[in-house]
Amino acid sequence: TPRVFSGIQPSGNLHLGNYLGALKRFVEMQNEGIETVYCMVDLHAITVWQDPEELRRATRELCAGFIASGIDPKKSILFNQSQVPEHTQLAWIFNCVARMGWMQRMTQFKDKAGKNAQNASLGLFAYPALMAADILVYHATHVPVGEDQKQHLELTRDIAMKFNHDYGIDFFPITEPVIEGAATRVMSLRDGAKKMSKSDASDASRLNMTDDADTIARKIRKAKTDPDALPSEPKGLDDRPEARNLVNIYAALADQSVEAVLRESGGRQFSEFKPMLAELAVEKLSPISAEMSRLMQDTSEIDSILAQGAGRARAIAAPILRRTYEIAGMVGVT
Ligand code: TYM
Repeated sequence: TPRVFSGIQPSGNLHLGNYLGALKRFVEMQNEGIETVYCMVDLHAITVWQDPEELRRATRELCAGFIASGIDPKKSILFNQSQVPEHTQLAWIFNCVARMGWMQRMTQFKDKAGKNAQNASLGLFAYPALMAADILVYHATHVPVGEDQKQHLELTRDIAMKFNHDYGIDFFPITEPVIEGAATRVMSLRDGAKKMSKSDASDASRLNMTDDADTIARKIRKAKTDPDALPSEPKGLDDRPEARNLVNIYAALADQSVEAVLRESGGRQFSEFKPMLAELAVEKLSPISAEMSRLMQDTSEIDSILAQGAGRARAIAAPILRRTYEIAGMVGVT
């Protein structure tokens, strides 16, 4: 039976890339009636320094973001990673399955560690093994993510295959990445060659889910573009990364194909298209940010949702971990 798992780091601001690349798909999959398990990966966040008070706030705000986007804690399991210890327990097993060479090839590690990799945390290096454990401790079959997580999901498959092969048992499923839609890679509003990210120093480079309507409109007005009108077909966006990005964002927000957007807006100048995009973005994002701030006024509701979610998650994860220990030869497994 299919089971969906995905996670988001509670580090910094939830932004439009997270929403279009991940959250929006999470909601769609939930509403298709598949079993869905969604996690705030606080243990992944601390692979780089997080102020404890800020981490607590960001974890709760992320949970508010899930709910405000349409995740229903009755339909989906919603919890934070640290409260289900089976993730880290399985991660240790996977640390012993994964090879140094596999980890060294991870482009996200190379990007995040920067030039001085010797000074990166050991956790940052091992990060993808914990991510594989997040997924496989639920025997999840489908993982919706943005394009930037593709390599980590390939590693997850490699770990599952090596475990199954080494122990001679068909135990972990080979997970399918779900990377779909018009906005699997939302780019910076200031630079069409960089992806939109929480860590970009320029706040104008991203739309945060907590931005108000004026801020959204201003950031879109100032977004980098080229001087040409929009083409009427997608191939006219080749070599126009900024234009393509804004069209992709429009398409994803409007639930239209890029073709349909260009059929409608081909020939328009950005002076006309940007206000349309701003209006659409405000229409779709403002209710989410309003609901997020409402939920953040009393965090006890959020905390109880996370606690209940952790209980439900553990009920699935614990037997799978026990079975893994048994397969690996640990004595005392009951
Ligand atoms: P994170 O927290 O960086 O991002 C959360 C989700 O948002 C997607 N995303 C984007 N999609 C499109 N355009 C963008 N500019 C953009 N930026 C981010 C990401 O692809 C992701 O889906 N390692 C993961 C968290 C994680 C996880 C997991 C995911 C931990 N364990 C298990 C899936 C399954 C991460 O750092 O995502």
